Amino acid sequence: MTLDWNEYIETAVQAAGEGIVLLKNDRNVLPLPAGCRVAVYGRIQTHYYKSGTGSGGLVNVSGVIGILDALLSCPDVSVNRELLARYREWEETHPFDEGIGWGNEPWSQEEMPLDYAAAAAAAAESDVALVIIGRSAGEDKDNKDVPGAYRLSATEKDMLKTVRAAHAKMVVLLNTGGIMDTQGLCDLAPDALAYVWQGGMIGGRGVCDVLTGRVSPSGKLTDTIAKTIADYPSSPYFGDAVRNFYAEDIYVGYRYFETAAPEAVLYPFGFGLSYTTFDVAVRSFSAENGTVRTAVAVTNTGGRRGKEAVQLYAQCPQGKLGKPKRVLVAFGKTRELGSGESQTLTFELAESLFASYDDGGVTGYPSCYVLESGTYTVYAGTSVRDVREAGSFTVEKTRVTETLKQLLAPERPFRRMKPRADENGMDWEGVPLSRESEPVRRAAAIPSEIPYTGDAGITLADVRRGGSSMEAFVAQFSDDDLSCVIRGEGMGSPKVTPGTAGAFGGVSAALKKFGVPCACCADGPSGMRLDSGAKAFSLPCGTLLACTFNTELVERLFFFTGLEMAKNRVDVLLGPGMNVHRHPLNGRNFEYFSEDPLVTGKMAAAQIRGLHSAGSTGTLKHFCCNNQEFKRAEADVAVSERALREIYLKGYEIAVKEGGADAIMTMYGSLNGMWAASRFDLNTAILRGEWGFDGVVMTDWWAVMNDYGASPSKTNFAAMARAQNDLYMVCLDAAVNSTGDNTLEALASGTLARSELQRSAANICRFLMKTRAFRRLSGTEDAVTVVNRPAEDRSFLPDEVVYHTLSDSLELDLSAVDTSKDADFVIALNTERLGGYDMELTGASDLGELSQIPVTVFSQGIAAGTFTWNGTGGAWLTQTRKICINMKYVIIRLYFSRNGLRLKNLKITFRVDKDAITDPQEYMQLF
Ligand code: BGC
Repeated sequence: MTLDWNEYIETAVQAAGEGIVLLKNDRNVLPLPAGCRVAVYGRIQTHYYKSGTGSGGLVNVSGVIGILDALLSCPDVSVNRELLARYREWEETHPFDEGIGWGNEPWSQEEMPLDYAAAAAAAAESDVALVIIGRSAGEDKDNKDVPGAYRLSATEKDMLKTVRAAHAKMVVLLNTGGIMDTQGLCDLAPDALAYVWQGGMIGGRGVCDVLTGRVSPSGKLTDTIAKTIADYPSSPYFGDAVRNFYAEDIYVGYRYFETAAPEAVLYPFGFGLSYTTFDVAVRSFSAENGTVRTAVAVTNTGGRRGKEAVQLYAQCPQGKLGKPKRVLVAFGKTRELGSGESQTLTFELAESLFASYDDGGVTGYPSCYVLESGTYTVYAGTSVRDVREAGSFTVEKTRVTETLKQLLAPERPFRRMKPRADENGMDWEGVPLSRESEPVRRAAAIPSEIPYTGDAGITLADVRRGGSSMEAFVAQFSDDDLSCVIRGEGMGSPKVTPGTAGAFGGVSAALKKFGVPCACCADGPSGMRLDSGAKAFSLPCGTLLACTFNTELVERLFFFTGLEMAKNRVDVLLGPGMNVHRHPLNGRNFEYFSEDPLVTGKMAAAQIRGLHSAGSTGTLKHFCCNNQEFKRAEADVAVSERALREIYLKGYEIAVKEGGADAIMTMYGSLNGMWAASRFDLNTAILRGEWGFDGVVMTDWWAVMNDYGASPSKTNFAAMARAQNDLYMVCLDAAVNSTGDNTLEALASGTLARSELQRSAANICRFLMKTRAFRRLSGTEDAVTVVNRPAEDRSFLPDEVVYHTLSDSLELDLSAVDTSKDADFVIALNTERLGGYDMELTGASDLGELSQIPVTVFSQGIAAGTFTWNGTGGAWLTQTRKICINMKYVIIRLYFSRNGLRLKNLKITFRVDKDAITDPQEYMQLF
């Protein structure tokens, strides 16, 4: 297979452009006419946010093409250089603040105060002002409703007011992963306003294409933008440290706003402007034998080329259950249509799309998906608001479309929203409670044990060839093998590509002997995170990709990512992230897609199909309600079974059934009182029993599990295995029981059945047989050739990173290291003792005494601290910092941000055990 880097780039650029959502374009200020003179405002112009932060954003790139970079190299526009020089000069004394340590990058960067004279001078020489506002948030860092985060800062407001006063035309672009206070922006009266999101390493090119009109915007909001944050029904509960009540129930996003608070909407779900206009006409509609068919013709009635996303919504009868006014049941996107050109999109909808889940039995059919009697109307249009009726069908008598069992229902009472019977506002009712506790179901489903055979000479390759059964293969595993195969290893395990999140499968010599390969998994949803410093392609963020409403495009993009993974021996991507955008402040919304489960599921399915077609695969995460980062491993989610099935699980169901997903990561937190990784209902009864999933389920990294009613712990692997969450991610050293897990103990005491471990062993091995890791081991992997990748983007390959064993001390000669500006130097350590070390770096510089030459120390991709040299007059100078090594395998990357330093050597010397450290603040923390 061939990975053509140019095609990869062009596909990503297309996605970055297609996901842009244009909200406002008064007087048609956009597109910019040829030759347009642009004054660019906002300090973030010099540092485009390619993604949010945390594991989903740590892609090492050779460079980022931001909006400014793209405009500067665009022949159709000219950028005001005086204004740019002003920003660049200011930035010298106000450098970008990355924050030190995990989850510490600020939501925004200090804005440059702008005086009217400067804006007026720029206005005199420019046709339009372009103001870029940037926001970040991410893992372990929820957004906040404060100035400089969800809201504009005072300096940003002043800047916008000044620009508005000085310029006749003002365009505002939002470089963010999720929505921000849009009303606050609209109050400052921009002529045009667009969410350009975080578009990955080439994001600026997509923006430039839209600004200049090379591409007509066609992105649509995958979230409702309400007037104030308080309007979101989850606002009173979001952010609770102990229990987060999903009191809004299924009324998430537009389901709530269209039903109960239409006046609170500033921009509706599905909305997005184009430079051209479209006529959308329903050509046909039929509802027969449980299938709705409709054809919708889209005609470009404007003067420019463009694409349109057609959306179909259902309005179902209120019945006894209560229904949202609108539910998205399908969407499709046209090709690029020229002026006057038409395309007809056809849709075939199964009646199950119109069914609702009765979790309390009010319809007479408890635990069933039902079509309540009444009229079902389908609307077609271009946003949840801009629709026309396509047709309708009637269900005479309430009937069941799927019979299920009560699973995952809450055990503690709370109240949830429901429309009033007269459809006049919302009412409250108690949630239906669980009738049977989960351990009863698990106990009834323990499989029978496969008798232990010892080594019968069967390898996994024999199973693959069909020469042996999986049962016979797993029968060979001793208790030790079984307890070992459920341990993932990481981060940075040297058994796989250096600097990746985890390894699993053949993690011990005994397992390897059976021909079990060791698979490599790496973050994340927006491209490969290689903490070794190897370069990778950074993709547009999840929100942006979803806003394209173009599943084919997303699938194509992830085909390239799958090939890139193969080249780096990364078998399993830790993505897509696919939780529902329940609240705008969830830090990880950028990794996820939408407030709507259908869009979420279709996008995830597209990514998985793309990865699979390249022979790689991905992991759906975080199964299933990681909807806030604050206390994510501790807080409980209190949610009804109906909301789980119709909203929070639905996307996963689609990705499994339609995308063929074969790997899933459970969330950290607790779901209705029991931690997700130990929930049998989630990982066995629903996922495998109802959906037919036959892949592998892994925990999130260092997750906790609990027995029913007990406190959670990191060592309760028995609770995990009982639930059929197959793999614990991650242990320092999987071959020995470095985490101190309770698997063997639980086997001995009978609280865990041997057959439950055999079941997970079989799941893991069955999954592994499909991976590139397996084909690599058996010599049948198809090679991937990369063409057209620029030299400066060249990434070193997995074999080029060498691990050094660190016992008491280690000294490395660094005299040959390239220390020029933007160079990286990587050291991989296999540490025998965790704890405090002295790190000594010896260097010299011929630069002037006051020059500053910082060397930033990154560990697992996060800045841990900095050594700064001044000019030394050429003499060697040794600097010592205390470092704390917290993981067995650590990759340290030294990043040189200035020229002018020579290094002599590096010395690391053990000082104190980890447990004996009294003041961690004194140490640079390396993970
Ligand atoms: C994140 C996961 C990620 C894992 C490995 C966790 O902290 O929640 O999304 O895949 O780390 O980096």
